Amino acid sequence: MTDTSKLASEALTRLGVTPAGDIAVRSPIDGAEIGKVSWGSAADVSAAVDRAAGAFESWRAVPAPRRGELVRLLGEELRKAKGDLGLLVSIEAGKIRSEGLGEVQEMIDICDFATGLSRQLYGLTLPSERPGHHMLERWQPLGPVGVISAFNFPVAVWAWNAALALVCGDPVIWKPSEKTPLVALATQAIFERAEARFGDAPANLSQVVLGLRDVGEALADHPGVPLISATGSTRMGRDVGPRVAARFGRSLLELGGNNAMIVTPSADLDMAIRAIAFSAVGTCGQRCTSLRRLIVHESISEGLIERLKRAYATLPIGDPLDEATLVGPLIDEDAAKGFDRALEQAVAEGGQVVQGGGRVARQGGAYVDPAIVRIPAQSAVVRHETFAPILYVLTYSSFDEAMTLQNEVPQGLSSCIFTGDVRESERFLSAVGSDCGIANVNIGPSGAEIGGAFGGEKETGGGRESGSDAWRAYMRRQTQTVNWSSELPLAQGVKFTV
Ligand code: UN1
Repeated sequence: MTDTSKLASEALTRLGVTPAGDIAVRSPIDGAEIGKVSWGSAADVSAAVDRAAGAFESWRAVPAPRRGELVRLLGEELRKAKGDLGLLVSIEAGKIRSEGLGEVQEMIDICDFATGLSRQLYGLTLPSERPGHHMLERWQPLGPVGVISAFNFPVAVWAWNAALALVCGDPVIWKPSEKTPLVALATQAIFERAEARFGDAPANLSQVVLGLRDVGEALADHPGVPLISATGSTRMGRDVGPRVAARFGRSLLELGGNNAMIVTPSADLDMAIRAIAFSAVGTCGQRCTSLRRLIVHESISEGLIERLKRAYATLPIGDPLDEATLVGPLIDEDAAKGFDRALEQAVAEGGQVVQGGGRVARQGGAYVDPAIVRIPAQSAVVRHETFAPILYVLTYSSFDEAMTLQNEVPQGLSSCIFTGDVRESERFLSAVGSDCGIANVNIGPSGAEIGGAFGGEKETGGGRESGSDAWRAYMRRQTQTVNWSSELPLAQGVKFTV
């Protein structure tokens, strides 16, 4: 049995953090106390926003490529800290080692992306209808950005937002999940090392306010924060979205997913099985991109289920710090109760648990045996996102039926198809295909790279983060018209001579 307390305190020391306070933080691996923190309050948020406003005054005037240099240094510091921060992610969030390290790699990747982006915040030049005039579209810094993040990607999601916000000229105020405060403090320490090397950054470009719901609400309500980027459940988004909208703020929401894979008769089943295993049980089913629904052609469903059962039966479940483990713990007992309840409901709705579904006894942690559930219809439980490793299997006979099942859920984050038939894959990717923000062919729904915009439709919230032109959300668009002539013509031919 690993000594998580000792490993955590050693990693924290190496990362240069000495957390203190009256709230005990426990590892989901074994329930051991791994540090103490204290919660902030709404007043702390208010003070942080005032400080961020001060930082914005000067940061917005720093040339964007120079701002990119800070993010480049952050990437360098993250490279140095990767081992320790990755380990701490595993200890505090319960991820297996390679996923803890992968999370830090995702932070490094977005830093590289944002550094290049700092020279590419392109605007447009537009033809003016008036002689001697020209028009431009320019992107200006927006102001302090509030980041509310979840336990399952406890640091990468901050980096997706912070790296872009910083090159766009915006300070960041971060309310991390109350389940993962230590990795947030460690990330802040890493950022401060980059800042010290940078030399002349204004103070308070990046701040962390630890706390509970009241802290998130204060951030969402604060008029000094023009953009709130919130990742978490749809329930959380239903609270945050209207709060931000009520003050005409902007929100970037990345909420629940209910991701499906369609497996057609021509699919390469060896590949499909590996993709299913990683995306359904990886991170113990706690990714917003986790595979939750398998939509299989009726002619291959029996064979596929049998092969999946065999693959699931060999899954090493246990201590995520053990290199051989593939399935670590759920984040807490509440999550395991959610798993139990969903399975009960599935059975009540006609489902049959054909694999797993039980608890795995391990002292101090909530370990479960990933479940496969055959279910006759896309009933209420299937339409709901349970943040645990449950894979519902539905069958289809016509491709139309498969597409209808894929799209007929309230969420719209990620989707995929396994097929060797170009007509099916092209239809899946077409305007009448998947309605999700992410659509993959012969790849599972999870594990996206940072280069593409990440996010989804419907109850997933509509936000886009990370790659592509997601940076635009962190900037203010300004249309500029310049008259370099000696006349004053009006647009639309209007005459107004005084
Ligand atoms: C999340 O679960 O909130 O695509 C993000 C993926 C990861 C990000 C998941 N790159 O699975």
